Amino acid sequence: MASAIERVLEIREKALKEIEEAKNLEGLAVIKNIYLAKKSELTSLMGLMRELSQEEKGAFGKAINDAKQAIQDRWAKKAQEMEAKKLQEQLEKEAIDITLPGKEMKAGHINPYYIVIDEVSDIFASMGFEIVEGRDVETDHYNFELLNVPKDHPARDMQDTFYINENQLMRTQTSAAQAHTMIKNEGKKPIKMICPGKCYRRDDDDMTHSHEFGQIEGLVVDKNVSLADLKGTLEMFVKKMFGEKREIRLRSSYFPFTEPSVEVDVSCAKCDGKGCAMCKGTGWIEILGAGEVHPNVLRMCGYDPEVYSGFAFGVGIERVAMLRYGVDDIRRFYQNDIRFIKDFNKN
Ligand code: PHE
Repeated sequence: MASAIERVLEIREKALKEIEEAKNLEGLAVIKNIYLAKKSELTSLMGLMRELSQEEKGAFGKAINDAKQAIQDRWAKKAQEMEAKKLQEQLEKEAIDITLPGKEMKAGHINPYYIVIDEVSDIFASMGFEIVEGRDVETDHYNFELLNVPKDHPARDMQDTFYINENQLMRTQTSAAQAHTMIKNEGKKPIKMICPGKCYRRDDDDMTHSHEFGQIEGLVVDKNVSLADLKGTLEMFVKKMFGEKREIRLRSSYFPFTEPSVEVDVSCAKCDGKGCAMCKGTGWIEILGAGEVHPNVLRMCGYDPEVYSGFAFGVGIERVAMLRYGVDDIRRFYQNDIRFIKDFNKN
């Protein structure tokens, strides 16, 4: 009996020692197989039971159970320690070096096209103009008919565009917003608005032409609105936009929806009106078309031309940006070249 218990203690000590000395989890798994499996040496010692007396059986059984429990506990503790150690090592190995430089995030920039819209909007808002949103897809009715350009009118030739269907087209001019605003106001309320947005025309793209470009439409409708009001308003705009020293000049022109119609030039900032390459020696640069709203347009859009009058103008956004910033090619606004766009932003 004594030797049987001794054998148990021996196995117990051996197992505990091996657990203590285990180098890694794999080694620990082997130990488990030897000492804690169903057919371990300890379990096979149970066979000795038959040769023991009743009292001895109790003591022997207890020795075996104690040994199993002790080996099991020590094994679990060791396994846990090793798992923790392994995790720790892994974390250290995979640690991120926070001293390495990160990837630089580049700030975006506003396209000068939108900078100009913001500046022009600010100037007109300060004169009491409302900023109205138009629509890129227009009907023939709003883009042409209500603007005194019936189906067979020759002025349509200059404004061929992309048609969605027989009736809908990509607007050729923000002037369509004039008609929308007048109709919305039902021939009653005075109007003072600008409408910035994209226009589309069938055009061969070159340095000064693009099939897609921006305009800012302006419309004032009230009682007794004269050409002098138009001139005063545009003079104010030009001085705020291009500098106090700039002057404007009105040349007579033709648009179907204004009468009289004018083209407006601004004195060349580069040569101060003396004449240079930029203004082609004339001292003046054309910036917009304008005029008194045609009585037909007022009438078609619900305003009585005997009571109301108004003026309208249309400024090319890229044109203004090109003059203001000395940009030589309209296509630059659409090429998304970050170096170009960056030049117009202070930060
Ligand atoms: N819509 C005209 C154009 O695109 C410009 C314009 C607007 C002229 C308003 C007069 C009045 O050429």
